Parts: sequence; structure tokens; C-alpha cells
Amino acid sequence: MSVGETGVSMLISVRMDPPLPLMFLILINGVSSAEWGVNYRHSHICALNDSSVILSCNYTYPTGYQIRELFWTKNPVKVEKLRDLSEDPEYSQRFQYLGDEQQNCTIKLSHVTQKDEHMYFFRFTTNVTYGNWTGYPGVSLTVTDLQVESPETVTEGNSVRLTCNSSCALTDRATFIWYRNSQPLTERRDRNNQLLLQSVRREDAGRYSCGVQGHTYISPAVQLNVTYPPKIVSLSISPSGEIVEGDSVTLICSSDSNPPAEITWFKGLMIVGSGRIYSILKISSDHSGEYKCKSRNKHGEKYSETVTLNVMYPPRNVSVSITESGQIWNGDSVTLICSSDSNPPAPNFSWFKENQMSSVGSGQSLSVIQSGRFYCEAHNQHGSQRSDAVTVTVKVAGRLVILYISIGVVSGASVIITVLLIW
Ligand SMILES: *[C@@H]1O[C@H](CO)[C@@H](O)[C@H](O)[C@H]1NC(C)=O
Ligand SMILES: *[C@@H]1O[C@H](CO)[C@@H](O)[C@H](O)[C@H]1NC(C)=O
Ligand SMILES: *[C@@H]1O[C@H](CO)[C@@H](O)[C@H](O)[C@H]1NC(C)=O
Ligand SMILES: *[C@@H]1O[C@H](CO)[C@@H](O)[C@H](O)[C@H]1NC(C)=O
Ligand SMILES: *[C@@H]1O[C@H](CO)[C@@H](O)[C@H](O)[C@H]1NC(C)=O
Ligand SMILES: *[C@@H]1O[C@H](CO)[C@@H](O)[C@H](O)[C@H]1NC(C)=O
Ligand SMILES: *[C@@H]1O[C@H](CO)[C@@H](O)[C@H](O)[C@H]1NC(C)=O
Repeated sequence: MSVGETGVSMLISVRMDPPLPLMFLILINGVSSAEWGVNYRHSHICALNDSSVILSCNYTYPTGYQIRELFWTKNPVKVEKLRDLSEDPEYSQRFQYLGDEQQNCTIKLSHVTQKDEHMYFFRFTTNVTYGNWTGYPGVSLTVTDLQVESPETVTEGNSVRLTCNSSCALTDRATFIWYRNSQPLTERRDRNNQLLLQSVRREDAGRYSCGVQGHTYISPAVQLNVTYPPKIVSLSISPSGEIVEGDSVTLICSSDSNPPAEITWFKGLMIVGSGRIYSILKISSDHSGEYKCKSRNKHGEKYSETVTLNVMYPPRNVSVSITESGQIWNGDSVTLICSSDSNPPAPNFSWFKENQMSSVGSGQSLSVIQSGRFYCEAHNQHGSQRSDAVTVTVKVAGRLVILYISIGVVSGASVIITVLLIW
């Protein structure tokens, strides 16, 4: 219901001193106050920030009056201080009167912002002293921005509902537009201010914002994170290719997961480390073995494939073993065997006699018939090592000759001589 000044004074008069003043008013004006009025289509308008709003309005007054002034004003406190919005610098550029001088008092306000949140009223005055009217209770304007309401995270496969919230329900029918990473989601245009993502995939993660069709204003973006267990867990070795003792080797475990996974490193069944990178400075053959990594977050865990580290190294612990004692009798032979530890195994062997430049043989064993100090050298593509020397002594027997001579005289003159030679 609208109450004009005439009405107010009338009501006050009625309370103070009924009913004469009412009679007086009616007599003076010659009309019923029911004919005075301002109708607003909406008593409350909720508009989007930076949009234009139409305040639809019509007014009536008794016939026989002439309109003097028509204007819109805000937050009236005292009638004497009413200010015409079209003359207010804060509004004059954005204010447009669409009405007329008979009954239509519609206006348009452009680029409304939160600063424009007030009560607005239409007032008109006539050529009659008490024929002035302000249309109470006016129109309240609320200006809203848009906020995406969304859970911060959703787990892959679940569904999630995003809401384009405004602080008040928009008066104009709004078609909502959703954006992911600033790209409009063309398939989602809806009068409903909600966006339902069913069976979320990780590609649905992103920064979501919303807007209303026909308006440039777009809400601030809100990050939606999609969490999922580790999917692709891969293990890479740097440098790739052959690994030689002493190299620095880095194992890297890559996995796709959200939130980021905790990585555990295994050598065989033993846990040997954690973290995405497992570095071995100066690798040794002890590090040879089967490695894998495990990627784990709160949604699940997954192992990488197993990779084998095969650390190459040159021969070491090269030694010569000798059958028997190293003493042989002249004419016999002794076999020397060269053994070593290397990777790749089965290196090449060379045999040397001390104080002799050239090798005296090759192969893992050497047959020796002479005295001397012998050593072997084992070599593979990564290096070589020589053994300690072993001594071979060839004993020459003392050519001991035992003559056993028995001389016997048997009947007659025959003599038998038996000779026994022992070497
Ligand atoms: C004036 O406004 C009221 C309320 O919005 C509406 O019912 C009425 O039809 C309007 N009158 C005219 C003449 O447009
Ligand atoms: C309203 O829109 C104006 C102009 O686009 C902008 O500068 C301002 O930040 C917006 N206000 C809010 C609360 O979003
Ligand atoms: C107001 O204007 C109307 C129309 O011009 C006229 O008939 C009427 O006499 C005026 N009333 C007063 C009080 O001046
Ligand atoms: C008032 O004027 C506006 C703008 O010209 C128009 O859109 C609206 O329909 C009019 N309202 C009435 C009740 O005549
Ligand atoms: C009505 O408005 C006119 C201006 O149009 C003003 O001169 C007059 O004093 C007002 N009357 C009352 C009773 O306020
Ligand atoms: C946003 O909208 C939802 C659904 O209408 C409501 O539950 C929530 O309270 C709103 N939040 C704010 C900040 O307005
Ligand atoms: C969501 O993801 C972003 C970027 O990936 C990240 O910075 C942020 O911490 C995540 N938030 C939550 C709650 O997981």
C-alpha cells in the first residue's frame, strides 16, 4: 500500500482530531485520496552487479490536477531534502526516465553496483498545495555478485554439485552460464543455478566461474580439485644404459595422482628409500638388484614395474691357485688357475712370468713346467687387475745311483753279476 504525504497528514489529522480535517481535505481537494497512488511492479529488485535495472512504476492522481514535477529520489528523510536522482552526479549518467507525464514512471538505472543499494521512490507534485505525493514504501534495490559454491575437492567417479550463488534471488529470469578455466561450458546453460558433474573425471578439475547470459559480469573462479589414486607409476633410470661401478645413478619414480603420492623404494623386498628420486652416488656392485617403487596416496597405491640394476665392474680379487705345493719334479707340470670376480663375469686372462715382458699364456689355467714366479692378469671391458705372483719350483732329482752288485761264485767259474739301478 502506498501512503502519500496527503495520506500521512490525513492519518495524523485523523488521530489528532477526527474527523473534521479529513472532511476538510476531501472538500478542499474535491477528490478521494484513493485516487492518489504510485504502483511499483517490484517492491524489491535483486540485480546483478554492473547490470541495468528497470524500475517499473505507474502513478495515478485525481483528475483536475496538473503535474508540476516528477522525479525519483532515494532514502528520503525529509520532504524538503528530496533530491532528484537525475540531478545527482552519482546517478545522472546512469539514469534514464522511460515514463511519461500521465501515468508511467518507469526508469532505468545502468551499471548498478553495491553502492546503489538503497530505497528508491517516485514523487510527483501538482499545482495544488497539498497535491504532492511520494510513493511509499518504494523499491529496495539489492545488487549482488555471483559466487561459485563448490566443494574444494571431489574424488574421481563421484558426483559434485556447483552452485552459482547470489546474495538475493535475481529478479530477472536468468540463464546461467558456467565456465571452466575461462572457457564456457556450452552444454551447460540452465535456468537452474546449479551445475551437476556426474561421475567426475580428472579432466573436470579446474577453475570454475559462472555468469548470467546477457551480462558481462562473471563470478570469481573457484578451484575444483579432483583427487584420484596413483594411476601410471613409472620408474626411470638415469643415465640409461650400462652402469659401471663408481657411476652416480638416479632412479626416478613418476606417478600421476592427486594428492601427490608418497613414494617408497624397494630393492627386492627391502625398503631402501623414499621420495620421488632415489640417488646412488658412486654405485657399487652391492647395489645390483631388482628395484621398484610404490606410489601411495589416501585413495590407493600402485607399484611400478621392476627394473634390474646390473652394476658392471672390472676384475678384482684376482688370485692364482696352484695344485699341490708348487714344487714339482723335473719333467712334471703343474697347473695354475687364475680366478677373479668381475661383471661381466668370465674375463680374459693373461699369464706372465716375472721379469719377462711378454705373456706366457692365456686362458684361465696355465700349465707350468719351469720354475719361476707367475702371475695372471684378468681383464674385461671395464679394467684389469693382476694377481700376486706364485712361486713354482722345479726340483731336479739328485741322480742318485745305487748300484747293487752281488757277485757270487757258483760251482765252476761262472760269475753272476746282478746290477740294480735305482733312480
Ligand atoms: C500499474 O501497476 C500495477 C501494478 O504493477 C498494475 O496492476 C496496473 O495494471 C498498472 N496500471 C497501468 C495503467 O499500467
Ligand atoms: C561489480 O562490477 C564492477 C564493474 O565490473 C567491478 O569493478 C566490481 O568489482 C564488481 N563488484 C563485485 C563485488 O564483484
Ligand atoms: C490546477 O491545474 C488545473 C489544470 O490546469 C486547473 O484546472 C486547476 O484549477 C488548478 N488548480 C489550482 C489550485 O491551481
Ligand atoms: C512504461 O514505459 C516503459 C518504457 O517505455 C514500458 O516498457 C512499460 O510497458 C510502460 N508501462 C506501462 C504500465 O505503461
Ligand atoms: C508541493 O510541491 C510544490 C512544488 O512542486 C511545492 O512548491 C509545494 O510547497 C509543495 N506542497 C507541500 C504542501 O509541500
Ligand atoms: C549458496 O546456495 C546454496 C544452495 O542454494 C545455499 O545452501 C548456500 O547457503 C548459499 N551460500 C551462500 C553463501 O549464499
Ligand atoms: C587444488 O589444486 C591446486 C592446484 O593443483 C592446489 O594448489 C591446491 O592446493 C589444491 N587444493 C586442495 C584443497 O587440494
